[in-house]
Amino acid sequence: MNATMLLLHLLGATVWTGGHLVLAVTILPRVLKGKDVAALHWFEQGYERIGMPALLVQVVTGLWLAWQKLPSLALWFSAEGGPVAQLIQAKLALLGLTALVAAHARFRVIPRLSPATLPLMGWHILAVTGLSVLFVVAGLSFRVRWGL
Ligand code: HEM
Repeated sequence: MNATMLLLHLLGATVWTGGHLVLAVTILPRVLKGKDVAALHWFEQGYERIGMPALLVQVVTGLWLAWQKLPSLALWFSAEGGPVAQLIQAKLALLGLTALVAAHARFRVIPRLSPATLPLMGWHILAVTGLSVLFVVAGLSFRVRWGL
């Protein structure tokens, strides 16, 4: 069960983080250069179908994996939980930030998307992409000690 959950978590991570890196590094520069609002809509609509389920999978499997590591909600938010609790808190903080930026983009920026507001949309994409990479770094930190 643990292995299956971890597999689903990693598949979700490849879709979420990988999709955002493709968007930020290859699609966004072209969209900004050509002021091509339609191309961004086209990518977003296609990606949403796999990206949103992937994020949902991340949250469900992530909470499950966190519970296996530390089976107490109180410990998740206390200093006694140690480094594992800190990493769980980091993941939840990243999730909160991602939800804020994504909701702002979805409900405020995308409905009024125009060549003039494309750079603002670009900042939102870069923010969610940066957060998605930090999710991977935090996830890996459960196993890996970063050092020189
Ligand atoms: C888009 C969001 C997320 C991404 C991209 C992501 C990515 C990752 C990655 C790459 C790992 C490393 C797995 C390994 O070392 O084998 C990981 C581990 C982990 N993640 Fe996430 N994660 C996300 C969301 C979450 C959430 C919301 C939680 C809930 C607290 C969470 C909890 C965990 C836990 C507990 C582990 C350790 C699993 C283990 O080593 O057994 N993740 N994550």
